[in-house]
Amino acid sequence: VAETLHITGHTRAEKYAALIPQLRALCAGETNRIANLANIAAALRQTFGFFWVGFYVVRNSELVLGPFQGPLACTRIASGKGVCGTSWKEKKTILVPDVEQFPGHIACSSDSKSEIVVPVFDAGGAVTMVLDVDSDQLNDFDAADQKYFEEICAWIGTLDHGDER
Ligand code: SME
Repeated sequence: VAETLHITGHTRAEKYAALIPQLRALCAGETNRIANLANIAAALRQTFGFFWVGFYVVRNSELVLGPFQGPLACTRIASGKGVCGTSWKEKKTILVPDVEQFPGHIACSSDSKSEIVVPVFDAGGAVTMVLDVDSDQLNDFDAADQKYFEEICAWIGTLDHGDER
């Protein structure tokens, strides 16, 4: 697979439709989790220009920063803390139109204005990581973004990441 994205279309829906099959091709046959998550984060940032895109991976009793694209971020988040820890604890997507209105939001950057966090589940239904996408604009994510991010995270949950580290 050539490591080049070909994104046609102008609307986000068109871009998701172009991107998702290319993500699948990019990760097919690669069993290293860091490698796949790194390319997924890069592809999402490159396609949409989001302010911050990345993964927090469940490790023991915390979320630990994984592959990401964007400014420096905090490295560890406890269950129930911030948007990421809440998504993990409640095992569901959290869409935050205005981070200042979210109690306990962890401000890694004051430029982050809205965000969405989507959990990835293993076959047993446990959360293995979360995808965090942040925008420097208020109210940047809607139900359509949520649908596509959930589709991407459901697919990530099916990847063979036997070569995890
Ligand atoms: N805002 C997140 C923390 C992670 S960063 O923004 C990259 C949260 O509240 O969980």
